[in-house]
Amino acid sequence: MFQYKINGGKPLCGDVTISGAKNAAVAIIPAAVMADGPCRIENVPKINDVTLQLEILEELGAKIRVINATTIEIDASKIRNVRAPYDLIRKIRASYYLIGALLGKYNHAEVALPGGCDFGVRPIDQHVKGFEALGATVEIKNGIIHADAPNGLSGANVYFDVVSVGATINIMLAAARAAGQTVLENAAKEPHIVDVANFLNSLGADIKGAGTDVIKIRGVENLRGGMYSIIPDQIEAGTYMAAVAAAGGNVLIKNVIPKHLECITAKLVEMGVEIEEFDDAVRVRRYKPLERTNIKTLPYPGFPTDMQPQLTVALSLANGTSIVTEGVWSNRYRYVDELKRMGAKISVDGKVAIVEGVDHLMGAPIRACDLRAGAALVIAGLAAKGVTVVEDISHIERGYEEIVEKLTSLGADIKKIEVPDPDTMREAL
Ligand code: EPU
Repeated sequence: MFQYKINGGKPLCGDVTISGAKNAAVAIIPAAVMADGPCRIENVPKINDVTLQLEILEELGAKIRVINATTIEIDASKIRNVRAPYDLIRKIRASYYLIGALLGKYNHAEVALPGGCDFGVRPIDQHVKGFEALGATVEIKNGIIHADAPNGLSGANVYFDVVSVGATINIMLAAARAAGQTVLENAAKEPHIVDVANFLNSLGADIKGAGTDVIKIRGVENLRGGMYSIIPDQIEAGTYMAAVAAAGGNVLIKNVIPKHLECITAKLVEMGVEIEEFDDAVRVRRYKPLERTNIKTLPYPGFPTDMQPQLTVALSLANGTSIVTEGVWSNRYRYVDELKRMGAKISVDGKVAIVEGVDHLMGAPIRACDLRAGAALVIAGLAAKGVTVVEDISHIERGYEEIVEKLTSLGADIKKIEVPDPDTMREAL
């Protein structure tokens, strides 16, 4: 069992390089299944969710070659198995992209209901609605989603009732090789949606409008292999920006697309953080006290829900009272109780958190309950006085490449330590 031990209170200084985007990678890897030849993918983040996606693809019969630290080649031309293994699938939300990819290529998919972070109910009704509109029958039996289109998929108009990243990508995948044109309305506009569309287009797909709320997909018969480089991770970059805001310091964050960070930059500037933008980097400086602000999470280009916990930590140290409203998930404040153990003053009522700034946080033993909450607690530990021990760090390592090494290079005192698993110890006694 591993934990992070953080000796907080040190400002962050230096530069850090952002990895490829997790939420693009976990969609592009299954999307590679749709190609008839090998796909070489660059800027792949070294995170556990990617390792899991690659293991799932190998179980299905794809060949994976590691070309170098950030480049892999996926050859899915010999896939014969369209039943994704339950043990792996249940660990990762994005495994549901295999439904769109396998259905789009083989007209049949069997994939267990997905796992991932627990923010309350995570329905997939909009995915099902889209697959059915394209002519598939979808049944959920014993926790397995069975999607079938024996006569092939046909293009259709799909209006999403809620803006969903997952449903937009999944139906885009299924439609890429369907007969005729599909129009997705009320589509999500996140940068990783554009990245998946660009990847598919580089293989010969015909997708227009990704990044707007209407996406038009003209189905093609085949997709060839190709080469593609994943965009930098907007949320990893934002997490380091929030870390500098909370702990103070001066950091150059490299390999970013500043445009994707605008929603985060705008809030940090309101809080008194200085941000300078370059072509592919941002410099973040924070020397003076933080000021309060309000945040409401919304689909892109609104403020990202995946940055809500990290910014809440920074606001917990700001002058005055801030209001945070979670506009995407029904239950994304489970980390607040842990933060309160460190001295934060936050009260949550449904989707709203009232954050009363305190002078400082104090180190404490705390538990990561999901990926971004875990990152937020690491930030709290960096900013706090004294020692913080973060447990359940496997959540964090699902989505942050070498977080300990990157923070250490910025002057943080953070170590990954191994401790005996209490269950194993109890069994041994
Ligand atoms: N929703 C439905 N029906 C559906 C699908 C979604 O009602 O069929 C609702 C959800 O309950 C939620 C909202 O729509 O209230 C948005 O959900 P969305 O489908 O956009 O989320 P997702 O695709 O499951 C992705 C990211 C999440 C991120 C959300 C929102 C991946 C693998 N995950 O999830 O990222 O929070 O979009 O931006 O791309 C993370 O990286 O930490 C993470 C959780």
